[in-house]
Amino acid sequence: MNTCKGVGIVSLRLKNMMAYNSICRMLRRESDYKFAFGNSVSPAMHAWPWDTWGAGHWRKFIIGVDGTQAGFGAIFIDKPNVVCCIELGLLPQYRGMGYGGIAGRLLISKCFTEYGARLVESFALSTNLRSIGMVDWMTLEGRLQARHLIDGQEVDELIYKITKPEWAARQENT
Ligand SMILES: CC(C)(COP(=O)(O)OP(=O)(O)OC[C@H]1O[C@@H](n2cnc3c(N)ncnc32)[C@H](O)[C@@H]1OP(=O)(O)O)[C@@H](O)C(=O)NCCC(=O)NCCS
Repeated sequence: MNTCKGVGIVSLRLKNMMAYNSICRMLRRESDYKFAFGNSVSPAMHAWPWDTWGAGHWRKFIIGVDGTQAGFGAIFIDKPNVVCCIELGLLPQYRGMGYGGIAGRLLISKCFTEYGARLVESFALSTNLRSIGMVDWMTLEGRLQARHLIDGQEVDELIYKITKPEWAARQENT
């Protein structure tokens, strides 16, 4: 397990797959789910046995806080472009305490150290202020105005990115 200040990420296995799916199910049932994740449900939000084989585009993780299963993290590996994209979510009781930021950094580091990414990207909806506040290592690359139409409301999509040299500089300064 990769850990940092009590926050760790554990790779998806058959034995924790039910926990992963139960966390994602709880997130999908939240009333503001669409304003956090969008209208469509990402493949990150469900784990299948073949996700544990490590052969496809997705790598999935349980986020732990002091040994308790607190959220999910997922990395999409875009192999031809050597790019990774991260997604994560925490159960409500673990939000707003900095855990998301730490888990995000663990996922980013994994992309560079284990999956050889050139750069890592992530997306946030303009309605998801916690997600926007969480992004500290990455820089805002662009904004797709009114990209989403959620319950009749136009919502922007924010695009964040960190390159390998930027990540390496962060490592030296921490
Ligand atoms: C998004 C999420 C992973 C962030 O994790 P977190 O642990 O809650 O976030 P952190 O505590 O690390 O950081 C939140 C930051 O946003 C800020 N923030 C929180 N709520 C805010 C609000 N309503 N308005 C503005 N800023 C806010 C906090 O002040 C903090 O910034 P700081 O570290 O400079 O103080 C978590 O809230 C979550 O799982 N939310 C539901 C699922 C989700 O939205 N996932 C992301 C989909 S893209």
